Amino acid sequence: MAAHIKTIGVLTSGGDAPGMNAAIRAVVRKSLNNGLNVKGIKKGYMGLLNEEIVDMDAKSVSDTIQRGGTVLGTARCLEFKEEAVQAEAAKICKKHGIDGLVVIGGDGSYRGAQALAAHGINTIGVPGTIDLDIACTDYTIGFDTAVNTAMEAIDKVRDTSSSHERCSIIEVMGRNAGYIALWCGVASGAEDILIPETYDYNEQMIVNNIIDNRKIGKTHHLIINAEGIGHSTSMARRIEAATGIETRATILGYMQRGGSPTCKDRYYASIMGAYAADILAEGKSNRCVCYKGGQFIDTDIDEALAMEKTIDPYQFEISKLLSRNENTDIKKK
Ligand code: ADP
Ligand code: F6P
Repeated sequence: MAAHIKTIGVLTSGGDAPGMNAAIRAVVRKSLNNGLNVKGIKKGYMGLLNEEIVDMDAKSVSDTIQRGGTVLGTARCLEFKEEAVQAEAAKICKKHGIDGLVVIGGDGSYRGAQALAAHGINTIGVPGTIDLDIACTDYTIGFDTAVNTAMEAIDKVRDTSSSHERCSIIEVMGRNAGYIALWCGVASGAEDILIPETYDYNEQMIVNNIIDNRKIGKTHHLIINAEGIGHSTSMARRIEAATGIETRATILGYMQRGGSPTCKDRYYASIMGAYAADILAEGKSNRCVCYKGGQFIDTDIDEALAMEKTIDPYQFEISKLLSRNENTDIKKK
């Protein structure tokens, strides 16, 4: 263990994600087990600047693993992008004796961690975002719960869509990434899945697909539209006008971020949180925890942020094929 690490801090930042509490719990309990003091920083980088810092013991994280949201609170703190503010935050850490910090959040939060590392505070990132949009890791905490929540909601919309023989556009979250849309779309048998990574804004293709499906007797038509494309309500109006089929838009919104985390989110969050605590105790800094190729590893944050995450074209092609009653030749490359 690195001799200079005595006290660590933990914060959650950016959009909350189910499983963040399991990650906090693991950071706290593993760090205590490593002989360190632990401080919880409330409301992300905003709370750090406002010195909303509390001592944490093993009991402070009791009865939290099953709860959605984050018990530490979170915030978007835009001023944290400023160098002077980052320097001030590093000073605050030092004032409170915080030698190292675990930041649970998405890639924006990682940039804050990177900045603090440059100011002499050891930082470790843990991927907490429902969007699954961090390139260095195959898994981000919250994604599994969010896609299951969305899928259950889509199944419900499907029932009423079929009864009324309507077309439904269901908009799911994901910021600029299409993972939530792709997974929910495949899992709910959607007829069309629109993701920002591939969408060409050719609505005529969708209109043709709806008309063709109606001809072969499909009673509903589900379109999963990613937030990164958005505009579901106006899209519904245009599609209804072009097809003559009643079309409704449902924007699932924040319900996707809430709720009790799935077993998978609790498990990954627990291992990732403990792993972060361990590498911080070893004296590592500017690293982030990843799940890659079936293993928990850590990567340099600079390298992680430089990576680009793309949707596998094979998976996207399959998503289109499976909802169609036509013969299409897609071979695995
Ligand atoms: P996420 O972490 O989920 O990607 P955001 O992109 O909103 O969410 O980032 C969360 C917070 O991280 C921001 O509100 C800000 O405090 C901090 N942050 C984002 N980008 C930067 C940056 N370029 N430099 C420093 N801090 C940043
Ligand atoms: O990053 C998680 C996320 O829910 C995105 O899917 C969405 O674009 C964004 O956060 C919404 O953020 P806010 O809570 O600031 O509206």
